[in-house]
Amino acid sequence: MLELFSGLGAAGLAWGLPVHAAIDQSANANAAYALSHGLQPKAWNLVGVRAAQLAPFSAEPWWMSPPCQPFTVRGARRDLEDPRTRALLRVLDLLVELRPPVVAMENVPGFVESTTRGHLRATLIGAGYTLSERLLCPTALGIPMRRQRYYLVAQRDGDGRHRADFAPPPPIAPIRPIAAFLDPEPDPELTVDEALVRAHGHSVHFLDTTDPTEIANCFTSAYGRSNVRSGSYLRDRGVVRRFSPEEVVRLLGFPSTWTFPPELSREARWDLAGNSLTVDGVRRVLGDAGVLPVGVGAGG
Ligand SMILES: C[S@@+](CC[C@H](N)C(=O)[O-])C[C@H]1O[C@@H](n2cnc3c(N)ncnc32)[C@H](O)[C@@H]1O
Repeated sequence: MLELFSGLGAAGLAWGLPVHAAIDQSANANAAYALSHGLQPKAWNLVGVRAAQLAPFSAEPWWMSPPCQPFTVRGARRDLEDPRTRALLRVLDLLVELRPPVVAMENVPGFVESTTRGHLRATLIGAGYTLSERLLCPTALGIPMRRQRYYLVAQRDGDGRHRADFAPPPPIAPIRPIAAFLDPEPDPELTVDEALVRAHGHSVHFLDTTDPTEIANCFTSAYGRSNVRSGSYLRDRGVVRRFSPEEVVRLLGFPSTWTFPPELSREARWDLAGNSLTVDGVRRVLGDAGVLPVGVGAGG
């Protein structure tokens, strides 16, 4: 497969196909990807990518996780006008030209109402793809973390019946206790002063590790920099602390053996984790669309 906007490589982990090439302009993301996947991503800016550069991958499925900031509630929602959407538009042009067999994509729920989605749909349908679109939150798969996301799977040889279902699916697994995802020995540097955190307002979320029904809020790339609406805090063994970046990627479904490059700061790790994907969510969506290779379970 070809993994575009590859970040930490969650889609490659989920899809279970050999990754032929990954592309991302972030040096930190590429260092983490190279360490864990054993493949050095191409450090290209996709805004200027040429057909000849992607043509070698035209017979393979493409995954893309373009920037979500043009569509987030926290952002200005500049949509098609946001310069960060340009890379997606460029890839879309090349999709029409190179026509890979499968194209799959993830973004924030705000993408559903965007003009960019309308353009994406019209372009893919015009190029003969069958679309399947949905929203999925990892809580439906039993993961104790909210991270509702939009997913698209487009198939070149589909049945022509486009599906778009944005109703929350019924949970298919009971919520697992948050304690199962935590570091055995949390770093004391993660400890925070609860009174200081509370001073930032009521939208700060604390959860108790001894309560097996607790669910963490979505972690964003601002976790550690912003105290509000960027993720939850923990009451853990007598202290109040932040989640470590390693705990966040565990909640995202990365293997327990997965590690960041040692030279990356904690802030850089939170940034990459907050931008990443739920591996189980991706696998479920690809499995339901029937595009996982034989032997790779739908997960969850
Ligand atoms: C939502 S994150 C992708 C997360 C990734 N799927 C993962 O598993 O971690 C978006 C990624 O797109 C990259 N990106 C944004 N604009 C880009 C561009 N113009 N060219 C190449 N990469 C870009 C960012 O560096 C970031 O890693």
